[in-house]
Amino acid sequence: MSLQGTFSPPGDKSISHRVVLFSLLAPGRMEVEGLPLGQDVQTSLRAVESLGGRVAAANGRTLIQGPGPGTTDRISLDCGNSGTTMRLLMGLLAGRPGEYILDGDASLRRRPMERIAEPLRLMGAEISCTEGGCPIRITGRPLQGISYTLPVASAQLKSAVLLAGLQAQGMTRIKEPAPSRDHTENLIRDWGGYLKTDPDGMRMEPWALNPPSRIRIPGDISSAAFFLCAAAILPGSRVTAQGVLLNPTRTGFLKILERMGADLKIEIKGETPEPWGDITVCYRGPLSGCRVAPKEIPGLIDEVPILALAATQAQGETVFRDIRELRIKESDRASALTDQLGAMGAKMKIQGDDLIVNGPTALKPAPGLDSLGDHRMAMCLRLALVLAKADRPPAEIAIAGEECAKISYPGFREDLKRLLS
Ligand code: S3P
Repeated sequence: MSLQGTFSPPGDKSISHRVVLFSLLAPGRMEVEGLPLGQDVQTSLRAVESLGGRVAAANGRTLIQGPGPGTTDRISLDCGNSGTTMRLLMGLLAGRPGEYILDGDASLRRRPMERIAEPLRLMGAEISCTEGGCPIRITGRPLQGISYTLPVASAQLKSAVLLAGLQAQGMTRIKEPAPSRDHTENLIRDWGGYLKTDPDGMRMEPWALNPPSRIRIPGDISSAAFFLCAAAILPGSRVTAQGVLLNPTRTGFLKILERMGADLKIEIKGETPEPWGDITVCYRGPLSGCRVAPKEIPGLIDEVPILALAATQAQGETVFRDIRELRIKESDRASALTDQLGAMGAKMKIQGDDLIVNGPTALKPAPGLDSLGDHRMAMCLRLALVLAKADRPPAEIAIAGEECAKISYPGFREDLKRLLS
């Protein structure tokens, strides 16, 4: 069994959240092409509507009328499963007059929010978290810019501070311990803001954003990663992801696949404003294990589950160094991987802060597989079952909560069925 053909993943989730949520600072009408239908981005759209924005669908596009800066009396916002919605909203609402309660589902309630509240409080924000997480109460207040060194390389944390900084008095300066995805910086610049990056970090002045009237969202490289990595390990495969985001802060997993010996071709087709294009992966032979350094992790954090699955099929040891951030995603993905793939026979362990995988291992179907409500675990486990059965479709083996894949990739099962030949 191999994967054959082309696919177009849904629009990039990280960029989409930002385009939608930035409308809270930018009045005006945008026509957005390629906004994904996955639950997470819909959650951001609902939040913008609750805060006075207008959203409509027309000709396969989404029309967003941003409310711009304004006042709200008292409002509760449901961030569902989406950490990006909640953390970006924290930065956006900290300086917006009004009273806000932010809450989410059971998974979001377990995730740390205090580390976002901390720098925002230094800027003058009034925020209280419940036991370090949500529900969160924010009373919007005037803010001042700060100089802040991020304790972890987190794009969500960086974005919250930048979004608060856009509304603050004076300059905001940020240093990050390692580069993380830079969509917030790119959009601020693209929408006319003042943001400069140099080896010392970035500095930004408060600015009124001016969005373009038309925006096109490229395909989500993190969704594409599932079939691209699977093609590198399923003999005879050749798969092309079409029209996907190629921002270098997001393509870290491609470097790792290459390091493991995969055959891949990248074709840049445009920059609107971030680079996008096609990626083709052809099966070339067994992969080899490799080391992934701590500073590489932020650039592939969402791809660790599928890379770890690839590592179970590679010759020798693969070490993902310092995966602490993986433990606070939609599930504790480090334990989820060792438990669930371990049950299928994978040789995988956590040692200190590292994830270590030894291969190659013939995976076997196991009863009681569980996505733990984590969309990326659901897709990783489904592909593990494809590998485990190798010669026939995987339809009849259940993964608990598998439908949560729709949070980021509603058409995942259909695309898988089509690509499997
Ligand atoms: C995201 C940043 C990452 C990533 C998440 C989306 C973003 O989280 O895991 O899926 O859109 O900024 P951290 O920045 O917390 O690492």
